[in-house]
Amino acid sequence: MSDDAAMPMQPFGPDGIPVSRIALGCMGLAGTWNPAEVGEEHRKKAIAAFEASLEAGITFYDHADIYGGTACESIFKDCLAAVPGSREKIFIATKVGIRSGYYEHTAPYVRQSIQGSLDRMGIDYVDLYQLHRPDPMTHPAETAAELDKLVDEGLVKYIGVSNYYPQQTLALKKYLKAPIISNQISISLLRLDPIYEGAAGGPGSVDSAGDGVLDQCIELDITPLAYSPIGGGWLSGKRQVPDDHGNKKNIENTLTALREMSDAYNGATPTQLAIAWLLSHPSGIIPLVGSNNPEHIKEMAAAGQIELSRTDWYKLWVAARGARVP
Ligand SMILES: NC(=O)c1ccc[n+]([C@@H]2O[C@H](COP(=O)([O-])OP(=O)(O)OC[C@H]3O[C@@H](n4cnc5c(N)ncnc54)[C@H](OP(=O)(O)O)[C@@H]3O)[C@@H](O)[C@H]2O)c1
Repeated sequence: MSDDAAMPMQPFGPDGIPVSRIALGCMGLAGTWNPAEVGEEHRKKAIAAFEASLEAGITFYDHADIYGGTACESIFKDCLAAVPGSREKIFIATKVGIRSGYYEHTAPYVRQSIQGSLDRMGIDYVDLYQLHRPDPMTHPAETAAELDKLVDEGLVKYIGVSNYYPQQTLALKKYLKAPIISNQISISLLRLDPIYEGAAGGPGSVDSAGDGVLDQCIELDITPLAYSPIGGGWLSGKRQVPDDHGNKKNIENTLTALREMSDAYNGATPTQLAIAWLLSHPSGIIPLVGSNNPEHIKEMAAAGQIELSRTDWYKLWVAARGARVP
């Protein structure tokens, strides 16, 4: 299928800010987790990826303070400088909370981290500030008060969470004045838990209710952001799955189903169909595609054009579950 069609947009958050239906995950943008290693070649590669993603219509960029050991946010400053005027046209997300071997959502740490992120990216505000993983050792009232201050001061436009189960989202929501507009979770044909049933019951089990995250997103107007949308690369079908990979059978079954569907969707690749499967869900999932390869970015962005039929959506789900629907 063609990579050239326009990227669809969707309204995000209470003000309906238009963002691209597919976002770029910037975890690998620097090409290293050691900031000391970053050189001219890394910068060139990151800028080429950024330019390719803008050209493909991606307006939403997801960071975290820890990505690349801080190098991803720093290299993003070079990306923004390489394309004058780009900052105003895009939606920038970052995250706080993961430290070395523990999590921290205390007010002083949140303050320290946002300042670091803004300084590294060379920007005055981030559009979306996300708590990276729940921190059981900080009362949500403390975190919420600091996040509300950041919003009031204009350093952060909107608040989101990541890897939050429904009850954790509710506990934060109770104390936060600002709305929680997104929950960034691992969801793909290789991780089905947020949809219905999942790993808890094992493939084929029909009695697990899933973790309820997508249902909560619909109920509370929270947009799900899907990380690892192609299972960290396995669903591209371009990698040999090692024999000792615990999920080999599921990956192969899913890839077979994706390949069988290609002709019906204008030659769409497994990668594109796996992304389209997420886009089809009525909760308005935004997949965060992770690559700094311009060709891969273009390929993934083009998945925004695919409209998967209801029956094909179910066929893929059944293949990924390894069992028919009950
Ligand atoms: N909140 C969290 O806890 C959390 C955790 C993990 C990730 N994330 C976010 O989610 C984003 C995406 O996560 P991810 O990197 O795990 O997701 P992913 O998109 O499922 O996988 C990325 C991998 O797929 C490969 N790939 C992409 N397109 C391909 C293609 N057409 N052919 C072959 N290989 C292809 C990439 O390699 P190439 O680089 O060679 O293209 C990369 O190794 C991250 O950047 C980050 O923003 C969040």
